[in-house]
Amino acid sequence: MTRFKIPLNKGELQEGKLKRIDVSDYSIVLTLINGKIYAMDTVCSHEGGPLEEGTLEGYNLICPWHQGIFDIRSAKASPKTDWVTDLNSYKVTVDENNGDIYIDTQ
Ligand code: FES
Repeated sequence: MTRFKIPLNKGELQEGKLKRIDVSDYSIVLTLINGKIYAMDTVCSHEGGPLEEGTLEGYNLICPWHQGIFDIRSAKASPKTDWVTDLNSYKVTVDENNGDIYIDTQ
């Protein structure tokens, strides 16, 4: 496991908005839902659509290209859109003293 500090502070994330971060070899989309941060791969498993430009409906992140659906909590593909496959989800840790965000990769 590798832990990265990402170049974004929790205070810069807005509730329900998507934000892309490129760190090391990872391209990750983050969002804040009910005050909790979620992070998953941002390149769609279908044809590489940019999920940071997608739509968030509850915990469903919908790809802007062909509307594949992922659960942002787990990065699992929805069985309703079986043209997409599961992506990687990342554990997020926040330093509550200063808002620094850390991502754990496998
Ligand atoms: S590229 Fe995402 S559903 Fe096709």
